[in-house]
Amino acid sequence: MITVKTMKRWFTSITAVAFILAVIFNWSLLVSSKKPSDVERAFVSDKAQHLADTGDEKLQATTKLAEEKNSVVGVTNLHEALEKIQELEKRLRDIEFRIPKKYPEVEFLTYKDRKRILVTGGAGFVGSHLVDRLMMEGHEVIVVDNFFTGRRRNVEHWVGHENFELIHHDIVNPLYIEVDQIYHLASPASPPHYMYNPVKTIKTNTVGTINVFGLAKRVGARVLIASTSEVYGDPEVHPQTESYWGHVNPIGPRACYDESKRISETLAYSYGKQENVQVRVARIFNTYGPRMHINDGRVVSNFILQALTGQDITIYGSGKQTRSFQYVSDLVDGLIKLQNSNYSLPVNLGNPDEHTIEEFASIIHEMVGGKSMIINKDAMEDDPQRRKPDITRATNMLGWQPLVPLQKGIKKTVTFFRRELMRSRHSERNLHNPVDSRNANSIHNGEDYNDL
Ligand SMILES: NC(=O)c1ccc[n+]([C@@H]2O[C@H](COP(=O)([O-])OP(=O)(O)OC[C@H]3O[C@@H](n4cnc5c(N)ncnc54)[C@H](O)[C@@H]3O)[C@@H](O)[C@H]2O)c1
Repeated sequence: MITVKTMKRWFTSITAVAFILAVIFNWSLLVSSKKPSDVERAFVSDKAQHLADTGDEKLQATTKLAEEKNSVVGVTNLHEALEKIQELEKRLRDIEFRIPKKYPEVEFLTYKDRKRILVTGGAGFVGSHLVDRLMMEGHEVIVVDNFFTGRRRNVEHWVGHENFELIHHDIVNPLYIEVDQIYHLASPASPPHYMYNPVKTIKTNTVGTINVFGLAKRVGARVLIASTSEVYGDPEVHPQTESYWGHVNPIGPRACYDESKRISETLAYSYGKQENVQVRVARIFNTYGPRMHINDGRVVSNFILQALTGQDITIYGSGKQTRSFQYVSDLVDGLIKLQNSNYSLPVNLGNPDEHTIEEFASIIHEMVGGKSMIINKDAMEDDPQRRKPDITRATNMLGWQPLVPLQKGIKKTVTFFRRELMRSRHSERNLHNPVDSRNANSIHNGEDYNDL
């Protein structure tokens, strides 16, 4: 039997359900008529403002965005508005992609002074710094690289510049272009890289060099080859002068590099004698600086990397073996001076400031700080015991000498490596500012590398 009490209970329940339904209905009405919030509107107008700031072509885009903004106001729900915003963001990215890049202000050279210069291996460590300097001087620069150890990122700040061209090409294959000067740097340079594929290293420094001289002969270009202090092997003469013929093990693990670089030099002088090609030979000693390959495997990068990541700093052998390191801007300075000189015999380019490996480890350890220990491991096979250039020839013939003190150069390099290690996304840039390349001495004035 339905009692009054039961009816009261039914009535209460129905009222409660009706109340809840009314609340839901009103809420959905509220949501469906919701206009974009201030934050959303600000977001859209920021994009429009950004586009308005970016120039002529963007005027249309700004108008378009303003229309889009109005249509956003009219959208019927939040979900649609978000989709719209995503669409606008995509359009913005497309437009930004078309915005002309900003380049460092390069010198203007008239056609009489402007040279067309090929840099093989120009996307590598030394090559990219050389490219910066040549570009800043106002020349037309063509980089040829197979990206074995080089990176597009090292030169990407020039990509699209009217004076710059990047060609993905392996120098083991012939190349047909028109140039006035060539800097032939294409070759792996660090032991792990050149030992990775010894036969390819030999091909690059022999067949590749023949291709470069073939090109030079055809177009009448002057060639500077990047030879190395390794042509002296484990030297019995100290410091090494250019007249020393070297002490190289022809079948050791370093032979693929040392001997093929020696052949490279022989090729240079054979083309010079037989074909009248103008040649310059730079015997480069250990060089360091920003943009060194992080897995370069040589002392400076190894020690910095180990110290920055808190690993033990490993010295192979006693640590009493010596090296002399030059900062990359000094080398670039020497390469350009040599190329433009009248001197055709080999020239040592290096810093005679000699340190034991042990000292390097301590300097870097002190500079980076942290808890790394310095430890010794077994010596590497054929590791040269002493390395120090005699740079009398470079000083007399080119008026060149290295200027960057070790502490300063190491500091710049540590900063670069630290930033490199901190990168977590591709879009985070860690670029060495090529404006520094305009003046080799800028580093002495305490100027810092900036991020572009
Ligand atoms: N960095 C030094 O301390 C040092 C010392 C002595 C000599 N060198 C010489 O200077 C030059 C540059 O050295 P780096 O330290 O910049 O080395 P790196 O490895 O950074 O640069 C070498 C460049 O050559 C490119 N390359 C290699 N093989 C190639 C091929 N077959 N075709 C086209 N490109 C190729 C690489 O991709 C890279 O971009 C090398 O010839 C090296 O032997 C360097």
